[in-house]
Amino acid sequence: MVDLSVVLAGLRLRNPILSASGTFGHGLEMRHIVPVEALGGWVSKTVTPRPRPGNPMPRIAEVSAGFLNSIGLENRGIESYLATTLEEVAGADSVIFTNIGGEGVDDFARMAERLGTREEIDAFEVNLSCPNVDGGRLPFSTDPEVAAQVMRAVKGATDKPVFAKLSPNVTRIGDIAQGAEAGGADGLTAVNTALGMGVDWRKRRPLLNTVVGGYSGAGLKPIALRCAYECVQATELPVIGCGGITCAEDVLEFLCLGCHAVQVGTASFSDPGLLAELPRQVAACLEELGVARVEDYRGSLETPDLAPLGPAPEPCVSTASPRPTCDARWRSTSSTLGPPTSPGRQRWGLRSWTAARPSTSSLRAARPRAPGNADRPQRATPYASGTGATRS
Ligand SMILES: Cc1cc2nc3c(=O)[nH]c(=O)nc-3n(C[C@H](O)[C@H](O)[C@H](O)COP(=O)(O)O)c2cc1C
Repeated sequence: MVDLSVVLAGLRLRNPILSASGTFGHGLEMRHIVPVEALGGWVSKTVTPRPRPGNPMPRIAEVSAGFLNSIGLENRGIESYLATTLEEVAGADSVIFTNIGGEGVDDFARMAERLGTREEIDAFEVNLSCPNVDGGRLPFSTDPEVAAQVMRAVKGATDKPVFAKLSPNVTRIGDIAQGAEAGGADGLTAVNTALGMGVDWRKRRPLLNTVVGGYSGAGLKPIALRCAYECVQATELPVIGCGGITCAEDVLEFLCLGCHAVQVGTASFSDPGLLAELPRQVAACLEELGVARVEDYRGSLETPDLAPLGPAPEPCVSTASPRPTCDARWRSTSSTLGPPTSPGRQRWGLRSWTAARPSTSSLRAARPRAPGNADRPQRATPYASGTGATRS
């Protein structure tokens, strides 16, 4: 019998499988399908200081390998959460995470202060990363210093463990993870949805009313794995992996790279009972490997030794001989199709483009082949200093 229990940020979970915020009800509405005691933890929908109606419809669309959504944190607000949702959560035999959101640092602190005294809540997950509020422009998950400020404010308002939920929509998620750690976060959730877009080419309209939204589901997994890995490497914090998990093997990939636990979101829409099945399936996979405790398996990923980062490469564009401006390049182009759309600029129709463009096969033949990985100088992971630490 494999021991699936894990300990993170002082919380003991019976197994490493949690529901992902916003995909499994506000509270425990899904317990008639997945018994509360089947999961390591339940994560609430994001609760905000005031009720939010969310974004206009359409705000969810199925796309290849996942969903686009722009729900926009629709929820009934903290007062309703306190009065109704927490009532039904009382006595739930699972670890309860309340996910909180806000539009300013003070909002987060007030939420944590107000909810922090409630025994039904075991931990907070701070949603730094919703792409659907203010067009994803809130800086909590893109600026390490702002992430630190939010976490400091929340930690100052509650004694409960606090997890920072990060966004994949940044260049270096490790920097944001370090910001959250500096602000006192007890753990990280990596990641929220990736910014995406869908187009109905017949109607000539975007799939979402907000045009751009958050992409989740199976297609997100490689990005989420990379983000979770960088967070594990960058900090000493326990990381909950999230993004694209649809089966037990996916769960094990996140655990192998060092995550303490995982969350499952979009996959529950097509298979609402999946979460109840996953712990047993994960145990079966570990048994097959001869692993007795999931904690022994965590972080067992073997990566090649990478050489230290070399000097920065020369810039691709030389500043000594400036490239011609766009206008100059357009002027030197001759086109047989139609008059120029603006002075000095030629409009290229499809015909002239296909005629002028070399065929793809000749392009492929002409392009020098890139060296294989084995020939290339290897880069060290940017967070090498954080590796090798013991994790609890
Ligand atoms: C319909 C929908 C609503 C979501 N609502 C929230 C939310 O309220 N708060 C939050 O932190 N994340 C929210 N998320 C993001 C998920 O919790 C999760 O981070 C993301 O979907 C990636 O995981 P997945 O690929 O398993 O779905 C939502 C995702 C979806 C699809």
